[in-house]
Amino acid sequence: MEFNELLQKRRSVRAYTEPAPHDAIRDILIKAQQAPSWAHTQNARCYVVESPEMLEDFRNAVLPEFNQKNSANAALIVTTFVKGLAGFSRGIQMNEPGEEWGAYDLGLHDAYLIFAARDAGYDTLIMGARNGEMIREMLGIPENEEVMSVIAIGKQAAEPNERTHKDPDEVIRFF
Ligand SMILES: Cc1cc2nc3c(=O)[nH]c(=O)nc-3n(C[C@H](O)[C@H](O)[C@H](O)COP(=O)(O)O)c2cc1C
Repeated sequence: MEFNELLQKRRSVRAYTEPAPHDAIRDILIKAQQAPSWAHTQNARCYVVESPEMLEDFRNAVLPEFNQKNSANAALIVTTFVKGLAGFSRGIQMNEPGEEWGAYDLGLHDAYLIFAARDAGYDTLIMGARNGEMIREMLGIPENEEVMSVIAIGKQAAEPNERTHKDPDEVIRFF
């Protein structure tokens, strides 16, 4: 898909008919690895929950009811970042955001992920409303990783609602 069209067409989807298949998810995650990261530390990690038996238990355990509904029939990708890499040089914090640079990197990674998904014909929903400790426990995620998003990925069941954007002059300043 042409890049501009991809930018325009990517939407958060809250109704799915089926999950993205294993090979498609793997390919999308390999593409997401192309995202830039602090000193190329490649601090993003992905945990894919795709088996039908596990998906149901996992969805019910870690998501609030509205996100269980939003992500029904989709596979789920948990994204985390390894702490102490982005924002640091030889263990020393480089500037004021510190560990927040890890979240910055992961946001870039996840942006690549959702665009790669759309390009491959799948839709996504980033979910920040989730239980991080339960996710850590169920997937055995080590303590040196910060659990961030759960991303639903699958085939869209219905067109998402239209949304508008702020006036560019409200959010952009040139000097
Ligand atoms: C960090 C982050 C967390 C989000 N958490 C949720 C969520 O828990 N549930 C949900 O339905 N949407 C969630 N969203 C989706 C946003 O509501 C959505 O991106 C926004 O309304 C703009 O719509 P669009 O993605 O279609 O452009 C989240 C998005 C981001 C980037």
